[in-house]
Amino acid sequence: MKILAIAGSNSETSINKLLVSYATSLVENAEVEIVDMNDFEMPIYKHQREVESGVPQQAVNFAEKIDAADLLLVSLSEHNGTYSTAFKNVFDWTSRIKNRAVWNEVPMLLMATAPGGRGGLGVLEAAEKRFPLHGGNIIDTFTLPFFNDNFDKSAQKISNEEKDNELKEKIKKISAIESILEK
Ligand SMILES: Cc1cc2nc3c(=O)[nH]c(=O)nc-3n(C[C@H](O)[C@H](O)[C@H](O)COP(=O)(O)O)c2cc1C
Repeated sequence: MKILAIAGSNSETSINKLLVSYATSLVENAEVEIVDMNDFEMPIYKHQREVESGVPQQAVNFAEKIDAADLLLVSLSEHNGTYSTAFKNVFDWTSRIKNRAVWNEVPMLLMATAPGGRGGLGVLEAAEKRFPLHGGNIIDTFTLPFFNDNFDKSAQKISNEEKDNELKEKIKKISAIESILEK
């Protein structure tokens, strides 16, 4: 099984990258690739850029990684209630590739975390509503509120037992989906 873990952040100290990396460690027998938005940095979407130069190679690379994955673990950072600009730019450019949907129906666990008590619920809800229109096959969602209290950075794991069990349960459920198990 090939897992693509995506942190929807370009922060070098991204808490969503820490969360999604931890989530990958809970899947057994998987080939894992972890990416963040720095891996696909490109000029901000502009109509004239697309007309003149087409979709940048970085967006094509992002799409190819999605297409090669059996399972997507996605954790989005929340900026002002929605996607970070870095993620939105990659999403926008990728949505301009012809004849394919951004998420290509690859099963996805959609996650978010933030230092605050809503745990990135704003961006999670935005994505939950929007992604299915772009081939998003969201099997489940997970939020981790109060990241600094609920995640142990030195142990690189969720320290809140209840939230940890919730994530483990969700990972177990999603990785037992037949179409994923077969791969
Ligand atoms: C411009 C900006 C806007 C933010 N807006 C929110 C917000 O609306 N809700 C929230 O919970 N946190 C917000 N935060 C705090 C982020 O959740 C925090 O920076 C977090 O570390 C982002 O995730 P990341 O580290 O994975 O990039 C904001 C941070 C910035 C820089």
